[in-house]
This record gives sequence, structure tokens and C-alpha cells, in this order.
Amino acid sequence: MTIKHIFIVGAGTMGSGIAQTAAVSGYTVTCMDVAPAALKEAESVIQKSTAKLLSKKRITEEQKAAADAINFVSTMDTIAEADLVIEAATENPELKFKIFKEIDEKANEGTILATNTSSISITKIAAATSRPDKVIGMHFMNPVPLMKLVEVIRGIATSDEVTEAIVHTCEAMGKTPVEANDSPGFISNRILCPMINEAVFALQENIGTPEAIDQVMKLGMNHPMGPLFLADLIGLDVVLFVLEVLQRDLGEDKYRPAYLLRKMVDAGYLGRKTRRGFYEY
Ligand SMILES: NC(=O)c1ccc[n+]([C@@H]2O[C@H](COP(=O)([O-])OP(=O)(O)OC[C@H]3O[C@@H](n4cnc5c(N)ncnc54)[C@H](O)[C@@H]3O)[C@@H](O)[C@H]2O)c1
Repeated sequence: MTIKHIFIVGAGTMGSGIAQTAAVSGYTVTCMDVAPAALKEAESVIQKSTAKLLSKKRITEEQKAAADAINFVSTMDTIAEADLVIEAATENPELKFKIFKEIDEKANEGTILATNTSSISITKIAAATSRPDKVIGMHFMNPVPLMKLVEVIRGIATSDEVTEAIVHTCEAMGKTPVEANDSPGFISNRILCPMINEAVFALQENIGTPEAIDQVMKLGMNHPMGPLFLADLIGLDVVLFVLEVLQRDLGEDKYRPAYLLRKMVDAGYLGRKTRRGFYEY
């Protein structure tokens, strides 16, 4: 299973980061999105990021040229050229099942289909395809070019061969893969999202200001950033969605989202991407 060409579906925060990282690691990259504005933004973000990395001599001229050569497209028409598809579209189960059905129909038989989902069952996504043995979770962290971890999640039918190929690809992208089994939120969000939720409860109950809550976790627990600041970075809609999945699929009330989180998402205060969340940007 030699992987040379990676096709990324979804060019938002994560898709653009994955595209950049894959390109500077030597892969041929195609990045697809249905929203023209997302494609334009992704191209601009990648150009700025790689120009900065080049000026700091953290990437070479060749790597910058590879990032500049990413192909941005608005359809899946060329997906058959890819050896690996990484889906990083909006976190919505119905949308992902529909996307995987289309990918499965258009991609080559041997192509591995990975998803960057934060919480949706890999086994369920795989069931929307005719190749569940070749479907796997590849959960990158935000911001992708900087963060080392990729959680590699096996669905019930994922083959050893596919898992090995993905572990190798993560390493070739300069990442550290950690294997997890398919369970709501996997390892990372099973632990992280309840912590963020508790920080929102603390704010809702006026135990401290956002600054105070974040400072306690930074200075007292040695976290590099506070939970509310991190929630703004992830996107409050994403955090809310993951908590709803944890509550529903694990059947435990302890995962119920704080009301303030829901209210902020309803207001469109989604964090950095809308320039307003627990902080203003
Ligand atoms: N934001 C994070 O910190 C983070 C971290 C790890 C994993 N994830 C996961 O990564 C995925 C993407 O999250 P994001 O934060 O980049 O979201 P985002 O909203 O920034 O980007 C999602 C993109 O998907 C596109 N899209 C929607 N429907 C599509 C379709 N049918 N075909 C192609 N593109 C489509 C949208 O136009 C948008 O540009 C989600 O599954 C999320 O849970 C997010």
C-alpha cells in the first residue's frame, strides 16, 4: 500500500492544515471543498504559513514550492488519482455518511479512506462504504502543522495492513501516531471535552472570569493554554457536538453540555473562526 497522492475532502481549519503538512512532507496533494470561499481561504492560509516557516528556515524552498503546488478543487472528479483520501468536512454524521458513500463510489478500489472526525463512530462511517476494512480514523490535532499527535482509530473491520499503512503515513508526515479503539470521543475528546465543559460550567456559575479560569489551569496545572482559550481555538460548535455525542452514545448525564456553551453556539459565537467566543479576536 504505497501512498503518494492524498486527496483531502474539506478545506476548513483542519483540511487546510492537513493539506499543508502532507505537501511539505512530499505527498502530492489535492484539496477539495464545496465552498469556494473555504478554498480561497485555505490557499491563502497555507501560503502565509509556509512563507513564515520558510523565512524562519523551518522548511526548504522545495517544501514551500510543494505547498504552492497543492491543487484546490470543488468536486471529487479527480479522486481516482488518490491512494489515500482524508475527509475533514463539517462534523455532521449524515453529511459524513453521504460524503463517504460518494468517495467510495468514485475512488479506486484499493484506496484507503480516512476520516478526521472528532467523535463520530469510525465503524458507522465505514458501514456507509463497500470497503469497511479500508476505512480508518486519522484524528489530527489543531493546528495541524504544529501538533505532533495523530490518534489512529480502528473501526471494527479495519485491517492490520491499512492500520500499518496509516501509521507509516503519519510518521512520514512527521507526526506521532497513537492507536485507539473506536469509542465515542476516542481517547482525546473523551477526556478533553468534559474538562472544557466543566470550565464553561465554572464560568456559567460565576466561579471565575474566563481569564481567571484559564490562568488557574495554565499556572496551576501546567497546561500550555487554558480550557476556554482552547475551546475558542477548536470551535465552540465542535465542542458542543462532541459533548452531545458523548452524552447520547455513552448514555451518561455527566457529559451534558453546559447551557452557556449552547447559548453561545446559538448566537454564532463560535470562537476564533467567528472572531468571538469566550474571548474577542
Ligand atoms: N477544529 C478542530 O480543532 C478539530 C480538531 C480535530 C478534528 N476536527 C474534525 O475535523 C473535521 C473538520 O473540522 P474543521 O474544524 O476543519 O471544520 P471547518 O468548519 O473549519 O471546515 C469544514 C469544511 O468542510 C466543508 N464541507 C462541508 N460539506 C462538504 C462536502 N460535502 N464536501 C466537501 N467539503 C465540505 C465546509 O465547506 C468547510 O470548509 C470535523 O470532523 C472535526 O470534528 C476538528
